[in-house]
Amino acid sequence: MKIISTENYQEMSIKAGLLLTEKIRSNPAITLGLATGSTPKGIYQFLIKDHQDNHTTYNQVKSVNLDEYIGLAPSNPNSYRYFMQHNLFEHLDIQGSNTYLPNGTVSDLEAECNRYEKLIEGIGGVDLQLLGIGQNGHIGFNEPGTSFNSRTHIITLAENTRLANSRFFNSIDEVPKQAITMGIATILKSTEIFLLASGEAKAEALARLINDGMSEDFPASALKLHENVTIIADKDALKYI
Ligand code: F6R
Repeated sequence: MKIISTENYQEMSIKAGLLLTEKIRSNPAITLGLATGSTPKGIYQFLIKDHQDNHTTYNQVKSVNLDEYIGLAPSNPNSYRYFMQHNLFEHLDIQGSNTYLPNGTVSDLEAECNRYEKLIEGIGGVDLQLLGIGQNGHIGFNEPGTSFNSRTHIITLAENTRLANSRFFNSIDEVPKQAITMGIATILKSTEIFLLASGEAKAEALARLINDGMSEDFPASALKLHENVTIIADKDALKYI
């Protein structure tokens, strides 16, 4: 795993944004795997500004997101579809029909997981996957204990994940208990992976990822099975390295 260390969150966002826009310009029909949460917001702002200033085009780009809460409609401000629309898609020239997320409101959720996994395969897989990391080592919503062989599946969120994400909701009771997430094997099929992390709250997880061996108790450690992973993190997140 290659590590790029930056001074702070802003520099992390710029470094990752520059690498990403280079990839998009050299492969205008790239398929991006995207994440939500606080970590990629600065990168998305970089992409929007670059689109406005330098006219990088997304008209052939496809995107597939890692995950979606079960039970939240796209119109719900806490759904990941809503997050992506407002933080990225509506500011770019990407075609709405080329942006994919699991649908957490269908009645047959198992069928939705299969549909999403096949959809990813059908569009030729992910060229570049962006990942954040949970303090418990989750990638996507693959919580500790998830099989490294998992494909898109339903996950029950860990209580510490619901607590961490309750900052976006009125109370923890409103945080959904389940989500649909790409599996670990799904993520590992991407051609290239950027894992992003910022702040001291992620320092222990990064130390475990970089220094320790592989274990299904720590989902991000599966990334050691992948040959093209770059960690882009600020010095607070890398403080134990
Ligand atoms: C988001 C996702 C999660 C987050 C992780 C870190 O789509 O799949 O794995 O990347 O929970 O979240 P933040 O960036 O909010 O610290």
